[in-house]
Formats: sequence, C-alpha cells, structure tokens
Amino acid sequence: MLDSTTVPAAAAGTWKLGDLTVNRVGFGAMRLTGTAPFDMGEPSDRERSIRVLRRAVELGVNHIDTAAFYFSSLRSANELINRALAPYPDDLVIVTKVWPGRNASGEWSWATPEQLRGQVEENLRQLGRDHLDVVNLRVPPSRRTGSIAEHFGALAALRDAGLIRHLGVSNVTPGHLAEARSIAPVVCVQNPYGIGAPADDQEFVRTCGEQGIAFVPFFAIAGEGAEAGATGTESDVVLAVARAHGATPAQIRLAWTLQQGPHVLAIPGTSNPDHLADNVAAGALRLSDAELALLSGGH
Ligand SMILES: NC(=O)c1ccc[n+]([C@@H]2O[C@H](COP(=O)([O-])OP(=O)(O)OC[C@H]3O[C@@H](n4cnc5c(N)ncnc54)[C@H](OP(=O)(O)O)[C@@H]3O)[C@@H](O)[C@H]2O)c1
Repeated sequence: MLDSTTVPAAAAGTWKLGDLTVNRVGFGAMRLTGTAPFDMGEPSDRERSIRVLRRAVELGVNHIDTAAFYFSSLRSANELINRALAPYPDDLVIVTKVWPGRNASGEWSWATPEQLRGQVEENLRQLGRDHLDVVNLRVPPSRRTGSIAEHFGALAALRDAGLIRHLGVSNVTPGHLAEARSIAPVVCVQNPYGIGAPADDQEFVRTCGEQGIAFVPFFAIAGEGAEAGATGTESDVVLAVARAHGATPAQIRLAWTLQQGPHVLAIPGTSNPDHLADNVAAGALRLSDAELALLSGGH
C-alpha cells in the first residue's frame, strides 16, 4: 500500500532536459486557475492553488509545466507560480509554451513567427524571470501536416538571444520533430499520451527515447476526458491493477506512463492537495511486466 504523504518526487528517478536535471514526476499548472482550464467564469480558490504549488515543491517537484494562456477571469497560472514559489529554488525548471495566445477576454489566436517574442516576454514578465528554462512550440491542429520551420526558427533565434535556455515541441508528429531538430536542439516532446495510446504513439515515444529526448505526456490521467478532466470511469483492468497495489486508478495511469521509458516524464495537473500527493507517490509504484502488458492491451 502506498503512503502518499511521504513519497518524494525523486522516487521515479531523474532526467536531464538539456543541462537541467528534473525529477521524473513533475506538475502541470493548467488545473490551478478554475474548475475548467479555460473557463472565464468561476476562478479557483487562490490560497488552495498556492498551497498545492508549495506542497509540490516540498515533495521534490522541480519541473512545472505552465503557459501564459492558462488563465481564468481572476487567476493566472504564471502569476500563481510566481506568488507561490518566488524567489525560485535554484533547481526548479519551469517549462512554458507559446504559439497559442489569448486576449484579455480569453479569446484565442495563433501567433505569427514575429509575435513569438512578445509571447516569450509575456511569460518572463508574469513569472518574474529574465530567461525561460524550456519553451515548447505548441503546434496548432491546422499545422498537423504542415511545416513548423518558420515558427521554430523564430523560437531558436530567441534562444540564441538568451531569452530561452532550451526548446521543446508540443502536439507534434515525428515529422515535425525531425524538422525542428534540423533547426536547433530539442529537449522534449509534449504530446497527449497514456493507457490506450495507439501503436503510432508508442513508436513515437520509443523514437524520442532513442534520440535522448524527453517525452512528456499530458492527459495521462484525464485520457479521453481531455480538457474536461478525468471522467471517473475506469476499465476493469485499471481497477484490478489499482486494487492489487492499494493504489488509485490515477496512480496506475501515471505509473504506466513512467514505465514506458526512463525519458518519459509526468506532469499531472490538479488543484487538489490530496491528488497532488497521490500523483507524486505514483512515482514509487512498480508495475510488473504482466501488469504493463495487460494495461497496454488497450483501455
Ligand atoms: N501542450 C499541450 O497542448 C497541453 C495540453 C493540455 C495539458 N497540458 C499540460 O499537461 C498537464 C497535464 O494535463 P491535465 O492537467 O489536463 O491532465 P491530467 O494530469 O491527465 O489530469 C488532470 C485531471 O485529472 C484529475 N486528477 C489529477 N490527479 C488526480 C488524482 N490523483 N486522482 C483523481 N483525479 C485526478 C484532475 O482533477 P482535480 O483537479 O480534481 O485533481 C483533472 O481533472 C496540464 O496541467 C498542462 O500543464 C499541455
């Protein structure tokens, strides 16, 4: 049985994003701002969100994923991170993403290559930093088959200018990754992934590992619930494995991703302190080969 109150984020080991070492269990900030991530209506409980961030760092989380476009009417993920954690611990790696933008009313747009600098600077202002550790180029659905060279080239120039230390890509195909790597080094790929992922995605995870690139899944818990969050319905297989380990289904989902390779990092998102502790503790779970095979069977 897992004791979620004591397991540190280092339990699943570490990975290097370029020259920056992170514990493999990190934290995603998208759920901190309100009940639904992009809902301009009901804001989250500010003190609770701040408590979750501070507790995450106490538990050893040193990899936080965020974005300037994670905001509700009265809460901004970047501002909460700044308020909760600055002055930042030396080992804290904050990863943000650009290309999507939202205006003050929350309406979406996509940046031109020239506008990426403004998006990077917006993150710097909100986080209160003078450089960003890692910036992911978050590719729009409309570019699923197109080139990302212009945008990635613009981001690489901002890296050369010292505003960004390392680059990543998000919502990409293997073709996008290859194109990006022909322009500048890539330290991570951030894509949706989890139990039930199709064979192509499994292959992409493997390819990233072979190239020494971190694979950072999102929706590992939420699955098909995606932005709407965890659905609360689980397959019998996930439930059975969870029972066998005295763990929750969410923990099994995270543990499964972490056991797909040492380069797979977790960034579970929550605004619930108990879920945070459970997610960090999932790094200590070790699923057997038989359990991994059962879970990979498609659920
Ligand atoms: N690059 C991209 O395009 C992209 C897209 C989406 C997300 N992301 C990043 O990836 C991170 C992870 O994605 P995510 O937050 O959407 O999905 P997730 O981590 O798969 O799941 C979050 C959902 O599961 C619930 N949950 C979390 N821990 C739980 C637990 N231990 N037990 C039961 N329920 C639990 C959360 O609700 P509670 O708050 O109630 O716990 C929320 O509904 C985000 O926070 C964000 O930083 C990136």
